[in-house]
Amino acid sequence: MEITVLYIFFSFCIFSIIGWILEVSYRSFHAGKFVNPGLLKGPYLILYGTSSLMLMGCISIFDFYDANFIVKIFIYFIAITGLEVIAGLVGTGLFNIRLWDYSDQFLHYKGHVCLKFSVYWVFLAFGFEYFMLLPYQNMFNSIPSVFKILSTGVLISIIAIDFIEAFFKNIISPKSLGEKEMIELEFINIAKPLLENSALRTLSQFDHHRGKTRLEHVREVAYLSFKWGKRLSLDCNAIVRGALLHDLFYYDWLHEGPRFHGFRHHNIALKNAHKVTDLSKKEEDIIKKHMWPLTIIPPIYMESLIVSLIDTFCSARDYVNFKEHKKTRKPIVVLDNSGLGAGRV
Ligand SMILES: [Fe+2]
Ligand SMILES: [Fe+2]
Repeated sequence: MEITVLYIFFSFCIFSIIGWILEVSYRSFHAGKFVNPGLLKGPYLILYGTSSLMLMGCISIFDFYDANFIVKIFIYFIAITGLEVIAGLVGTGLFNIRLWDYSDQFLHYKGHVCLKFSVYWVFLAFGFEYFMLLPYQNMFNSIPSVFKILSTGVLISIIAIDFIEAFFKNIISPKSLGEKEMIELEFINIAKPLLENSALRTLSQFDHHRGKTRLEHVREVAYLSFKWGKRLSLDCNAIVRGALLHDLFYYDWLHEGPRFHGFRHHNIALKNAHKVTDLSKKEEDIIKKHMWPLTIIPPIYMESLIVSLIDTFCSARDYVNFKEHKKTRKPIVVLDNSGLGAGRV
């Protein structure tokens, strides 16, 4: 079997999905209810995708050296246990999540690995080698290349965005409920005057990305950028105000508006924003550069770069989300300063 980049990525996606099905079945059976395992939102477990690639690598080496059965058991045991330890440590260290816990099992290491499950994985590895790999390779060869390329591109994009979202969410997420409320209150205090402005509220009448209104989009970009701004000790006032105004144009950009909307709407938004409020140089730069690098001139402030990156991320996420955003077009509710939890902007 010729190992190509397409084969590696396609296999990663397929076995991530198969792993998710296995894990859901096992955990749901034991819990007596549906359990969605893993760190990511979608129906895939990238640990299984990674394990399958590692096993394929091991099998090629076994074939090359004509390895005997005992050597295989030993290598499978070491490789899978090692990968499980790394995944467990990454989960707790980077994402602050314990995805599984073997603490109650005999011979475990910090709950990340244990003897019993390592033995299970070795059995599964042999099952993969003797019963699954060949039919899978035959299936792979029989699928048209166009379909494999397209499906792999879409799946890898979805998994990558899901992973990036989970990773960054953990970095910028407040650690306690009190901290979360403080951050939300600070955001509301900055955003409220603009969100109550009739020009901005008009944005709730326009679809922006797959059913999400433009007001929902700018608010989302403003809130996420604000959280990053807090994390990086930036000018959060400018970030929130600039982000809320970055798409201030009053037309359905898919069907109306000027030609080459992507290259022009930042100037339209800036002109409209000047009619709504006085802008600082930084806020102007945030609005004007939010489409960078599409619009060649780069941001001159870190705040502008953050909003531009978050805007790109939110837009990409809207398009790869599994379900279209619900078309609400509801007037947005503004949270009262005195009543956290009463509503959200
Ligand atoms: Fe935009
Ligand atoms: Fe935007």
